[in-house]
Amino acid sequence: MKAKKWLSSVLVCGLLSMSMTPVYAKSTAKSTTDNAKYSIKFDTSDYTEKTATVDGKTIKYRAYEKLVYVKNPVDTKYEIMNVYIPEQYYEGKSIGDYNAKTAPIFMPNAVGGYMPAEPGSPGEDQNGDPNAALVALSKGYVVAEPGARGRTTQNDDGEYTGKAPAAIVDLKAAVRYLRYNDKTMPGDAEKIISNGTSAGGGLSALLGATGNNKEYEPYLKAIGAANERDDIYAVSAYAAITNLDHADMAYEWLYNGINTYKKLQFSDDTDYHNERTFVEGTLTDDQIKISNQLKALFPDYVNSLGLKASNGTPLTLNADGDGTFKNYVKSYVIKSAQTALDNGKDLSSLTWITIKNGKVTDIDFDKYIEYVGRMKTPSAFDGLDLGNAENELFGTSSTNTQHFTQFGLDNDTAGGTLADPAIIKMMNPMYYIGANKTTNAKYWRIRQGSEDNDGSIAVPALLTAKLENQGYDVDFAMPWGQGHGGDFDLDELFDWMDQVVEKTSYK
Ligand code: DHB
Repeated sequence: MKAKKWLSSVLVCGLLSMSMTPVYAKSTAKSTTDNAKYSIKFDTSDYTEKTATVDGKTIKYRAYEKLVYVKNPVDTKYEIMNVYIPEQYYEGKSIGDYNAKTAPIFMPNAVGGYMPAEPGSPGEDQNGDPNAALVALSKGYVVAEPGARGRTTQNDDGEYTGKAPAAIVDLKAAVRYLRYNDKTMPGDAEKIISNGTSAGGGLSALLGATGNNKEYEPYLKAIGAANERDDIYAVSAYAAITNLDHADMAYEWLYNGINTYKKLQFSDDTDYHNERTFVEGTLTDDQIKISNQLKALFPDYVNSLGLKASNGTPLTLNADGDGTFKNYVKSYVIKSAQTALDNGKDLSSLTWITIKNGKVTDIDFDKYIEYVGRMKTPSAFDGLDLGNAENELFGTSSTNTQHFTQFGLDNDTAGGTLADPAIIKMMNPMYYIGANKTTNAKYWRIRQGSEDNDGSIAVPALLTAKLENQGYDVDFAMPWGQGHGGDFDLDELFDWMDQVVEKTSYK
């Protein structure tokens, strides 16, 4: 419908310019230099009116759906965005502290498993509660929900079109679209807050870390992204599957010695956020050997980062994997248990937690990990047989799967090749925090459940330390008893968002 509309307006323009000017080549010349297939101008008049009920209150909003956010998309099933705007903003009204000019833009992506994602929409979550987008609208946020290509996206010729870095390029293009249209669209494009869970959490963090970095520019140009900045204001990331080139060693640092597992069965239609089926097993001797080798690589990586705790203590690990960084991770687990205790949770059956006078004074870290249990087999992300979701992420237009670590390549069992190091880098936020000519988001909310074993808690801990060392404002916590998932604490999420929005005066 959008494409047809565009086509008819081009035809009308073409006819007009032909009738008004004798030199008809003028309009054709313009379209060959620009070569745009789609307009990226936001059309304020093209919407449907919707209503929804949140906490017994009816909210009215305008739905602008399936907006192609680049001029030359590769795939219009995914490179589209849904934008939702409270009706009050068209009536000159305010919602709480926000109005048409100042409302922050909440930008949740729906990516799971690094699969392609169509844009989401306000509605109910799987429990029948208002989802994050609907809560956002009720609180006066403008909501922009981008789709993005993913690891299985193919074109009509069977070429893969969504391999890394496609998904992050698409999300950046969506940010640029919002800036390009900032004057005509209600909401403040200088207050974009991204949100995502798991792979989507990884992409949310990557979006916040890589603002305006030139390495992405050729990819953005190729799809006709707006010539605008793509930095964002704040990041919310749940259960981020990120830092992929060090995720295997981080996982074995944590789970080495746990030799039974409950592994996620994945296929191309696995719903990463909801139905997840698991198969139980025991590691083979070879897998245990791989685990030992990966674990041994982690200290060098941690030590190479030169990170410090907030009191200035260097965060390091010795060859056995013990040290201040381990204590740093443990401190977040202790904090998590303390919060649970303060909220009335009975932890007395967990003998590995020491509680004295209502205070969690210690946790036996190894017992805690045993309690959580291992989900993935080594190597957890860069599968030696190229069999993991992440191997598919790093394929090329003609190769479905590749390795993305030297360890994966060196121990390969499937004749695999290594992805382009420049692309591996472009998927990892750690390389861009504090990097030259890069605008990092200033505000970060990072959540990883205390029982999430899809990834290692060392990963968000390193991300937090890196961000804090650069002076950014980071709220990292591990919600007690929470497994792999996101959007489970929307009241707290929006309280945090309102607070960080307040920290910068309106334009
Ligand atoms: C997701 C989960 C995983 O375990 C993984 O390896 C990649 C992505 C997800 O839920 O998005």
